[in-house]
Amino acid sequence: MRTRKALLPDAIDIHRLILQHFASGTLLPRTFPEICENVRDFVVAEEGDSVVGCGALHLYGPHLAEVRSITVCPEYRKRGAGRLLLHKLLKEAARHQVSCVCLFTRIPEFFARAGFSMVRREDIPDKLYKDCCVCPKLHCCDEVAMVRGQLPRFAILSQPAPALVKLEI
Ligand SMILES: CC(C)(COP(=O)(O)OP(=O)(O)OC[C@H]1O[C@@H](n2cnc3c(N)ncnc32)[C@H](O)[C@@H]1OP(=O)(O)O)[C@@H](O)C(=O)NCCC(=O)NCCS
Repeated sequence: MRTRKALLPDAIDIHRLILQHFASGTLLPRTFPEICENVRDFVVAEEGDSVVGCGALHLYGPHLAEVRSITVCPEYRKRGAGRLLLHKLLKEAARHQVSCVCLFTRIPEFFARAGFSMVRREDIPDKLYKDCCVCPKLHCCDEVAMVRGQLPRFAILSQPAPALVKLEI
């Protein structure tokens, strides 16, 4: 098992991997064109010639990046691929000197092993502005927010905040 940066031809496999989780809401929907456009955000896990897992790092700015779309084929789970993908994404965040990495998840135990801790959603306003605002589950979110590093003290996105929280930034 090894990980590497994704290339455009991997977009089909990445889309297939993420597609499996659309219905359950475990991963945010990503269209094929969206994956192509953002393929440089992705890393993939390979076993032999097969792509068996993927994950992405979305950069908001020097204060924040987000781990997204991390998944491993069911038949290759519990063999260390998820951990390898996460470490590769964290290494990428460090390379960009990002001071905080965040994510939203239903499986905090997996990410706690890599040093993530739970925070309030309101503590990551950029994520609220980018995704939560338009999410049908805005007021019934079943995911927890987690961060690793220094919590951001400002946001750079400036779309209207949902009435959900009063942000102090
Ligand atoms: C989460 C996921 C990527 C983990 O991949 P994986 O290859 O099975 O993970 P690893 O084998 O590297 O596991 C690393 C450690 O995390 C633990 N772990 C794996 N899946 C876990 C889970 N769902 N909950 C809690 N701990 C988990 C493993 O037991 C292992 O622990 P160890 O270090 O004590 O041995 C994979 O289960 C998956 O694709 N899930 C569906 C999509 C998903 O939920 N993605 C996260 C969205 S935020």
